[in-house]
Amino acid sequence: MTAQRDGMAELTEALGGRLAFGADYNPEQWPEEVWDEDVALMRAAGVTMVSVGIFSWALLEPEPGKHDFGWLDRVLDRLHAGGIHVDLATATASPPPWFLLEHPDAALVDGAGVRRTFGSRQAYCPSSPAFRGAAVRMAGAMAERYADHPAVVMWHVSNEYADHNWHCYCDVSAAAYRDWLRDRYGSLDALNDAWATAFWSQHYTDWEQIGPPREVSYNSFANPGQQLDWWRFSSDAQRDLFRAEAAAVREHSDAPLTTNFMGFFKPLDYRGWAAEQDIVSNDHYLIGAEPDRTQHLAMTADLLRSLAGGRSWLLMEHSTSAVNWQPRNLAKVPGEMRRNSFQHLARGADGVMFFQWRASRGGAEKFHSAMVPHAGTESRLWRDVCRLGDDVRAIAEVAGSRVAPASVALLFDWPSWWAATLDSHPSVDVDPLVTARAWHKVCWGRNIGVDVIGPADGLEGYDVVVLPVQYLLDDATVARLTAYVRGGGTLVATYFSGIVDEHDHIRLGGYPGALRDLLGIRVEEFHPLPEGETVPLAGLKEGVGRVWSELGRATGAEVVASYAVGPCAGAPAITRHAVGRGMAWYVGTELTAEALDEVADEVLGAVEPVVEGLPAGVEAVRRLGAEASYLFVVNHTHETVIVPIDGVDLLGGSTGAPHVVKAGDVAVIRQP
Ligand code: GAL
Repeated sequence: MTAQRDGMAELTEALGGRLAFGADYNPEQWPEEVWDEDVALMRAAGVTMVSVGIFSWALLEPEPGKHDFGWLDRVLDRLHAGGIHVDLATATASPPPWFLLEHPDAALVDGAGVRRTFGSRQAYCPSSPAFRGAAVRMAGAMAERYADHPAVVMWHVSNEYADHNWHCYCDVSAAAYRDWLRDRYGSLDALNDAWATAFWSQHYTDWEQIGPPREVSYNSFANPGQQLDWWRFSSDAQRDLFRAEAAAVREHSDAPLTTNFMGFFKPLDYRGWAAEQDIVSNDHYLIGAEPDRTQHLAMTADLLRSLAGGRSWLLMEHSTSAVNWQPRNLAKVPGEMRRNSFQHLARGADGVMFFQWRASRGGAEKFHSAMVPHAGTESRLWRDVCRLGDDVRAIAEVAGSRVAPASVALLFDWPSWWAATLDSHPSVDVDPLVTARAWHKVCWGRNIGVDVIGPADGLEGYDVVVLPVQYLLDDATVARLTAYVRGGGTLVATYFSGIVDEHDHIRLGGYPGALRDLLGIRVEEFHPLPEGETVPLAGLKEGVGRVWSELGRATGAEVVASYAVGPCAGAPAITRHAVGRGMAWYVGTELTAEALDEVADEVLGAVEPVVEGLPAGVEAVRRLGAEASYLFVVNHTHETVIVPIDGVDLLGGSTGAPHVVKAGDVAVIRQP
């Protein structure tokens, strides 16, 4: 469900038609003399908006109920005088030291029952009424004071909910969990049934007997139903806190509001959060050592656009260069920050923001890059920041345009992800995100547009729908997938999909119970592979499977490839089943990149890329505006590329056709 309100369009208007460009701004880390220089440099860099106050609670409320807003008044006034707009935080991301002293029972408790102490950030229990009360009061006080401040154009509620406190196992949380379970199940009978408590003497006769899945006896497993519901509950508990804080802001202000997501962040099912954001926003950081980091960025941006219902969204944070929290914090190579930024913009972001404006000189993040580095403005990084500011200004007219409809939908569902990765499963090597990334990568490499959709999203218009390890499927989704294939769609389901219902109960009678008929196959037994081993497949040129194999047979499907050796020799590994006017493919193992490419040639063969004929490593995405379309080209390669397209490059200024995009460069080509 998408929010009614298009807060991103409101923001663009408030920014005078410019895109959001800026960063988290933490002036409280600096003496006031620096603030004037900050504003001057922001203007020089083309900054339009900064996020202020995210971690300022302790300075804004130094004693319970006593506020010191003076310094923030001066910051906001200065920013306003300099023409810089503000995304103002509720300042509730991390409570002050006094809070946990006053409310020791609001501190985070881990699964072993150990209370975590103050000294970092976000060390609170999300279900704590004391924390909620304090945060709501603070959020309300901020909104009341600054609702009418002319610099403030949007609200930033808390920050990255759950980043450091995703699950709290304290007694308060346990009570909240029981309430949540009562709501979900209504009766203990229903809960006992859903959790299969007949197993291991777990039958509950009183709600008070139920607790969170804390650490259990050695070398054993907590009840899977209890664990799966715990993930659900914990995501909802964080959302309830968000709702309470957001409501406190909305009492005083109509400005659009957001809380920043973290892409494929496992603890929060953002599908249940997105509709409550006026602006859907995201923080994305590359894992510097990852060869496929560029594709990870693209897939995350595709998720964000899907969460925003296809509308524009906001990149709230990324880094200008290195971060501080990876084992080796690799600096970005020249041009990488610019390419990263344009990937987000291409995929629907109407702004690029960073963490943070000025690199800190103290604190845990002092080695994190920023827009103003420790070296100051005599630096390549600063020059790159200013250039990006120019670029962002040059493409302002893309604001509000929509990314052209995608041809492929990748189904990615949080509850299924949680359930698929619980313990006591056939193999620890099964990871829905890995499989989803592999399928996104073959599309991305071909410049085929992908939406990352949820089970309730519509399937109309997609040429291909992919279910990567969609372990948990409910009946309604199966019915819609079946109708989609009958109507002419192409479905690809991978191994370990359709195995259980929403209670994590096996769908009996042969795997994959939910999809058996649609796929025309029946699997009797899983044979996951030993760590690092592969199995050759007969029927493909480059056929090798990893992670998984299984013993089954086709009951209507055509066998495309089968296991060549081993206990499943001769059994189907890849099948396709003509159903109605469509086709249902099944891939029963994790394909290597080469094998997947070969299968993709078949499955995606008829799907049109955004632009024909671009070499690998050149990313192309089209955004459609009311009067023009914009082809974003990001050249990740070391070669110049010729783009056979007629139009005007908003960045380089070249007109006509073709366009030359140099190694590592970016173009945004406007076409009528
Ligand atoms: C984000 C967070 C920021 C900063 C940044 C560093 O997760 O919102 O406050 O810590 O990471 O990469």
